[in-house]
Amino acid sequence: MAFSWIFLVVALLHFLFIETRAKVIAGVVSSGQAWSENGTFITKFCFHDRRALFEYETNISSNGRWYFYLDDHWSDSLAETDCRNKIAKARFSVGISATRGQQLVNQWLRPHFWYVVYADPNTCDESPPTEDLFIGYTLTFLNPDSEGNANDHFGEDEKGLLTMYTLLILFYIGGIAYFARRVWQSIQKGGPMHEVLQVLSVAIAVHFLSAFFMFINLWIFKNDGEGSSACETLSEILDVVSQMIMICMLLSMSMGWTLGQVIPHPVNNKGQLGIIALVGGAEVILVLWEQSYEESHYTYHVHENLPGFLLVCLRIILAVLFGYNLQSTLSKERSTLRKDFYQAFAIICYLWFLSFPMLMLIAMVLPEYWRHRVVTIGTIAIQLVALMMLSKQFLSRSLYWEVSTLSSTTLPFKRDRGGFRD
Ligand SMILES: *[C@@H]1O[C@H](CO)[C@@H](O)[C@H](O)[C@H]1NC(C)=O
Ligand SMILES: *[C@@H]1O[C@H](CO)[C@@H](O)[C@H](O)[C@H]1NC(C)=O
Repeated sequence: MAFSWIFLVVALLHFLFIETRAKVIAGVVSSGQAWSENGTFITKFCFHDRRALFEYETNISSNGRWYFYLDDHWSDSLAETDCRNKIAKARFSVGISATRGQQLVNQWLRPHFWYVVYADPNTCDESPPTEDLFIGYTLTFLNPDSEGNANDHFGEDEKGLLTMYTLLILFYIGGIAYFARRVWQSIQKGGPMHEVLQVLSVAIAVHFLSAFFMFINLWIFKNDGEGSSACETLSEILDVVSQMIMICMLLSMSMGWTLGQVIPHPVNNKGQLGIIALVGGAEVILVLWEQSYEESHYTYHVHENLPGFLLVCLRIILAVLFGYNLQSTLSKERSTLRKDFYQAFAIICYLWFLSFPMLMLIAMVLPEYWRHRVVTIGTIAIQLVALMMLSKQFLSRSLYWEVSTLSSTTLPFKRDRGGFRD
């Protein structure tokens, strides 16, 4: 398992893929840059269908404007090579003739992502502007809160995330409180599956911390519209670590680890270590790639971009690998008790491996502003349920307990522990 920690170095994701949120954003645009890019892309934000508000503040007034592109037209505008046609595709624009101003975004049939671009009258000129004007800006995007006042920093695509994370954390704390004592007892007793329980406890603890830091980030974001990128990054790293621990554990178990079969311990097996290293490396690379991809492509269609797609493929390959392992372990298995255990175990593991690909698939048919919520919350919730079910499965005196102790002829020391069964 120590292998997973190597990846801690990696500052990631996303994964989960919460990209930089709108917001309150500050930065600098220049007329020279706008000229060379045919308009400078600033950010995107998902506005509610009515009573949303855009505010800007600049350190200098200018003849430049903020151009707003509707999500439906954005890819057309990216494909457009003619500068004037490109600017003309904007739905509306807000001038920077004063150093501060605001604009109501109102009366759309449904929530939309809006893409903000800076351009000025010289942007489409043949030659670069004679004087490169630098404008420092702060943009604020606000959606209506429950009373209809434009106060809410969350984009429409993120509405409810904080509430859901709050519930998740509470649910987690309840679950941990419920299981902690029994897990601790089992580990102390050195029961037959205490190694699995140790690993699972670490995975759950790391998963919980990941959710907790994301919750803190969202909570800060709710108040200032900026959030805490440290908490966000930490949460993403912890998420990858917990995924890695789970993948290693499930793969090892599917090969018979702790069941006193073929492979006594994963770390003793070079082939398996190789697979784990490969999978871990692939996952980290994909996640990083996906991050930079999002930044450079201004679009947020996780499942439509290549790294996101490969990430989904990786999960499916893992599920197949897992199923194949399990099948070959099962074929060597004569005990019906163990077979029953493996069946229950397999269902939980497929749930865990396939939750992300399944939700990505579902998200494809949903409007864009729903996708993020569905995939993020759905994955975390399903994996949480799977973790709890696994804990229960391992803890319950039922199948697994007996399965592991009854037939441990290959590992004689386990027989001595038989007396500890409760
Ligand atoms: C900007 O527009 C001009 C003409 O309108 C075009 O020739 C040029 O290729 C465009 N540049 C980019 C980066 O799209
Ligand atoms: C506005 O801010 C930008 C970036 O900080 C700076 O380069 C520019 O000189 C400022 N302009 C004025 C008029 O203060």
